Amino acid sequence: MTSFVEVTHDGHVSTLTINRPDKLNALSTEVLEDLRAAVDALANREEARAAVITGTGKAFVAGADIAAMKDMTEAEGRAFGALGHGVFDAIEQLRLPVIAAVNGFALGGGCELALACDFIYASSKAKFGQPEVNLGIIPGFGGTQRLPRRVGSAAARELIYTGRMIGAEEALRIGLVNAVFEPDALLPKTIEAAKEIATKGPLAIAAAKRLIRDGLDRALPEANRMEQAAFAEAFGTADQREGMSAFLEKRSPAFRGA
Ligand code: COA
Repeated sequence: MTSFVEVTHDGHVSTLTINRPDKLNALSTEVLEDLRAAVDALANREEARAAVITGTGKAFVAGADIAAMKDMTEAEGRAFGALGHGVFDAIEQLRLPVIAAVNGFALGGGCELALACDFIYASSKAKFGQPEVNLGIIPGFGGTQRLPRRVGSAAARELIYTGRMIGAEEALRIGLVNAVFEPDALLPKTIEAAKEIATKGPLAIAAAKRLIRDGLDRALPEANRMEQAAFAEAFGTADQREGMSAFLEKRSPAFRGA
């Protein structure tokens, strides 16, 4: 059976491509399950050090599948929300950084998928939005929580209450995306960034990801204690010896993730 998520590997960098272009990569239960399987496989892939998520065709992901949701009962809606949250949490919990390469529409669940990634690069043609209120629902895969954490409460409220679509430049201005590229340059530039990350100490990157993710929801003194503990632990790794030796020996480090 073919999957709605294509996975390719280039050394330490994996690319996950949502592939349902006839429905603008809308997230049905099947697509979410395929994405979950791809994310779980990535978690178990020892050599994986960074990943990219993108979409086929003119959309990144145009949202959760409206046709599939139309007749859902409350119980089915609950299960669908739990599935989406589970997949996006799994992305956020990966030890390796994930960059969203937003090639087109990132609406509703598509914007939420991008927000579950560590950061977002966008094509100049990308469009972002949380249009759920147009459908009589609210963002259900983390949008009310991750969007304000990423862009601040005021911008998130405006986007979620109006359901307005914004272009790549506005997304850049409000801090939703880190960089905007010409459409053809988006994927190469994103993979280049992922490859750069993959040259760094994987344990250090994993610790930094965990601390930023978990620290943001904690009070600063507690979060700073977490950082102190992780900083100390870094000195118990072979990668720390290798990184510092390589610097002093004026050579490139060869990190092993140990
Ligand atoms: N769920 C299910 N199907 C979707 C979809 C979604 N979220 N988004 C797009 N599609 C389908 C369309 O129904 C259409 O299918 P069809 O060819 O069988 O009729 C196909 O994808 C192409 O979409 P279309 O609307 O014809 O493309 P467009 O370029 O005219 O418009 C959008 C693009 C993104 C503006 C428009 O598709 C849209 O508004 N999508 C819904 C966005 C949304 O509300 N997302 C949040 C869901 S919670």
